[in-house]
Amino acid sequence: MKTLILNGSPRKSGHTVALIKEMTAILKGEIKIVDCYTANISPCLDCRYCYNKKGCSIKDEMQDIYEYLVDCDAVIIASPMHFGTISGKAISVCSRLQSYWSSRHIRKVDKDNLKPKYGALVITAGGNWPNIQILAEGVADYIFDHTETEQIGSVYAKETDKYPAKDNVKAVDQARFLAHRLNELCSK
Ligand SMILES: Cc1cc2nc3c(=O)[nH]c(=O)nc-3n(C[C@H](O)[C@H](O)[C@H](O)COP(=O)(O)O)c2cc1C
Repeated sequence: MKTLILNGSPRKSGHTVALIKEMTAILKGEIKIVDCYTANISPCLDCRYCYNKKGCSIKDEMQDIYEYLVDCDAVIIASPMHFGTISGKAISVCSRLQSYWSSRHIRKVDKDNLKPKYGALVITAGGNWPNIQILAEGVADYIFDHTETEQIGSVYAKETDKYPAKDNVKAVDQARFLAHRLNELCSK
């Protein structure tokens, strides 16, 4: 089993990383964690290379992610909530998934030979208000869709300003549950 985790937090020992650790302690097989704040990955520059060719013209660390996405089994998007959705750096990295959109809708190639995957969304948020999840779920929908990933669930550790995510029993339980479920689904 191979899992790609996109870590959208700038904080090395922050709330998001605490939940990532809960999951990596359970996930079987190989795990690749992409730190969106330190990875050498440019945002999509809309050069439109992918309108005519497979892949992306920008030769940076995103090329490793494209390669990993070919046959990985699971994708986890883990990010602090910034301005109501995943962090800007996480969105920047994921903008490079646009090449998959171009394959489907411009070049009309049905799939990019990506193995179908299962995925989970992990969000930590300082606050708590009704419908806090709407924007993050919407953005995650795009990411999961572009990577041929079926989302199996989400974790929200809210009010991290008051309660650290690592002590949020409900969020930790849900993160562990989703890691076990990914193991089950990906081993079938
Ligand atoms: C730039 C920025 C924007 C933020 N926007 C929100 C927000 O829209 N809603 C919210 O509940 N918390 C917001 N927060 C708080 C973070 O979501 C919260 O502190 C989070 O748990 C940090 O996770 P980390 O320690 O993994 O980075 C924001 C924090 C920053 C730095």
